[in-house]
Amino acid sequence: MKFCVLTIFPEMFDAFSGYGIMRRAIESGSICLDPVNIRDYAEGRHKVTDDRPYGGGSGMVMKPEPLAAAIQAAKSKMPDSPCVLLTPQGRRFDQEIARQYSDLNGMIFVCGRYEGVDERLCQAYIDDEISIGDYVLTGGELAAMVIMDAVIRHIPGVLGAEDAAEFDSFSGNRLEHAHYTRPRVFEQKAVPEVLLSGNHGAVEAWRKESALLRTALKRPDLLEKTGLTEAEKKIVKNWCRYLESLASD
Ligand code: ADE
Repeated sequence: MKFCVLTIFPEMFDAFSGYGIMRRAIESGSICLDPVNIRDYAEGRHKVTDDRPYGGGSGMVMKPEPLAAAIQAAKSKMPDSPCVLLTPQGRRFDQEIARQYSDLNGMIFVCGRYEGVDERLCQAYIDDEISIGDYVLTGGELAAMVIMDAVIRHIPGVLGAEDAAEFDSFSGNRLEHAHYTRPRVFEQKAVPEVLLSGNHGAVEAWRKESALLRTALKRPDLLEKTGLTEAEKKIVKNWCRYLESLASD
């Protein structure tokens, strides 16, 4: 999958592409990351990419011409890739959007800065507008990194088989189960005995229950969204019986 990122700060992506899973994915050829400096497409000696807003007011607006030229150049190399603007006004990014994007051959990100991007550019060139949450960043670069990081996890071969994205939190609208590693006892707290049992069926059942409990406690909205499976209903009924036994005289 190819990511082309249009930005006035391409160097911000050096660290992002230089470490961990992203670096491995680039080295193995699963991912190609191409940060492009919008300034390279700006006219004149000063290569200006922003200007004052018509109608007055504070802040600057990204000029349409350099962005249009940069998008056209990217589109000529990646004609079937959507052009995505990172903006707090976009639709809210989530795991399902990450999974859908991972089916694409490529994506072109436009990282807004300042007060925003000229509206005519958006109307003519932008296919999708994405926000990573209801807060305002100083630019779209961090949002583009967040999205790429979440998307690549779904590309076959990027993660090892054992930690495939299908087991991640939010797949199937459930949080992931609790994790433990050595030592067996840490600050007087022991690892749940079942995880040491070697009984794969029992471990699997414990993990399903742990995932359900964590989802119920931390993100009940996810349970309300999908309802419970028959197996989960059984688990919840067991919890109810247990709680009733605690409450009875
Ligand atoms: N640019 C500024 N704030 C943003 C946000 N919350 N999401 C995406 N891009 C942004």
